[in-house]
Amino acid sequence: MKIYVPMDSAAKALGADDVADAIRREAEARGLDVTLIRNGSRGMIWLEPLVEIDRGDGREAFGPVSVEDVPALFDGRMDCLGAVEDIPFFARQTRLTFARCGVIDPLDLADYEAHGGLAGLRRAIAMTAPEIVAEVTDSGLRGRGGAGFPTGIKWKTVMEADAPQKYIVCNADEGDSGTFADRMIMEGDPFTLIEGMTIAGLGVGATRGYVYLRSEYPDAITVMNEAIRIARAKGVLGGDILGSGRAFDMQVRVGAGAYVCGEETSLLNSLEGKRGVVRAKPPLPALEGFLGRPTVVNNVISLATVPVVLEKGAQHYADFGTGRSRGTVTLQIAGNVARGGLFETAFGITLDEVVNDLAGGTRTGRPVKAVQVGGPLGAYIPVANFDAPLGYEELDAKGGLLGHAGLTVFDDSADMLHMARFAMEFCAVESCGKCTPCRIGSVRGVETIDRIARGDADAIPLLTDLCETMTDGSLCALGGFTPLPVMSALTHFPDDFATQKEAAE
Ligand code: NAI
Ligand code: SF4
Repeated sequence: MKIYVPMDSAAKALGADDVADAIRREAEARGLDVTLIRNGSRGMIWLEPLVEIDRGDGREAFGPVSVEDVPALFDGRMDCLGAVEDIPFFARQTRLTFARCGVIDPLDLADYEAHGGLAGLRRAIAMTAPEIVAEVTDSGLRGRGGAGFPTGIKWKTVMEADAPQKYIVCNADEGDSGTFADRMIMEGDPFTLIEGMTIAGLGVGATRGYVYLRSEYPDAITVMNEAIRIARAKGVLGGDILGSGRAFDMQVRVGAGAYVCGEETSLLNSLEGKRGVVRAKPPLPALEGFLGRPTVVNNVISLATVPVVLEKGAQHYADFGTGRSRGTVTLQIAGNVARGGLFETAFGITLDEVVNDLAGGTRTGRPVKAVQVGGPLGAYIPVANFDAPLGYEELDAKGGLLGHAGLTVFDDSADMLHMARFAMEFCAVESCGKCTPCRIGSVRGVETIDRIARGDADAIPLLTDLCETMTDGSLCALGGFTPLPVMSALTHFPDDFATQKEAAE
């Protein structure tokens, strides 16, 4: 009998380690031959720890399982959820990037290969560099870190740059609140990121790669380091990738913890051992990146999606999606929801479907007030705009930002003036200090919102003015996008600002 208990840190936070220990003890006490596999998460956080049992005729899911439930689990007295693939939240997904996550043992390379792993790399090895880059371009894959820049075009810039050394840097500094897709794939299917980075290396002519991983993700750091060691030992990385005579190797570098180090130039400074402040662009990192050399800086999900693009072909990937947003988006549903977790689906799904249907509305049972899409720099989308299909341009048209595809749900008790203040405060704390609109503007922003809260109506146009200055004058996305949550709160929920005013009067 095989029993799967996730080692994903969300599952662990909910007791998965204790449940795994209890299963081990119970099996021993009963004299049962049990193989315990620590898999990644299937992404349904409200069911974690989600335990799957395979008695030889397929996997059956149980969850959430507590230590006290373990005897009942063995006695067959616990309610079974059936196969994970049949649970509606899971059944409605299109899993391309996350196809293996939660299915395989994350550190079993043979298991990875048995589930389609390395097929993309093998295909890439037989292709020329321009063919690899063209395949990624044709797939329509765009940067999943937030900006949505076409990955193939970025790679082409690096490929065509003439330099003795080029680099692949994976941005794993997942700092947006409410996002966890990067962490989940690194903990649940690390070889797919290694494979994606290796394919990128072959595509642009880079032989070295770095995963810049945030220190707040200790489990992901451990899993990635171990996966890299295994990949190197088995010849997937190193001087002779899969016997091809081609070289690519990589390592993990741990960031000390600053939101702005998720901005690519700040990240590169930090990677070089310097203070994590933003560099002016141009020059683009694609031409002068790590140590001044041409560098691909891509987000985890962008790189982890490359293997499936190469394995199944550009057209297969491009066939999913809507408009210019091709392929799948890995939505991270969080905040006040009944069912939170990771939901991978073709672009084009609406917020209404995600929040009210899939996520089951709010956990409190109160009406949904807004969803913040795209992390702390994303706009608050009111229920009236929930018909917007999720796509880069489609959300932009509604004044929003898809960002890293994190959705944080709020019920009608949320105070949007308070949330606007939080955005300014967040920016003030995390600002790298390089440019004035962000460094000073965010502090003035907090003060101005406090004035509004005290009933000073004159502070409202001042806040609007300040937001315009920050949008137009900031050097990077932190100062440039902070006005989005602030102005969306003010525009869509004016009553929250007025109420504060009236209360003060
Ligand atoms: P950007 O629009 O300046 O650049 C996008 C990417 O395209 C960069 O890598 C840039 O170097 C590259 N690029 C642009 N023109 C190019 C060319 N001609 N050739 C090659 N490469 C080219 O956006 P930025 O500042 O990198 O990212 C902003 C986004 O980051 C925001 O949309 C926000 O959603 C997101 N974000 C994500 C966070 C996370 O935790 N994932 C945290 C904070 C922000
Ligand atoms: Fe630094 Fe803020 Fe300016 Fe970005 S916008 S460079 S974080 S001061």
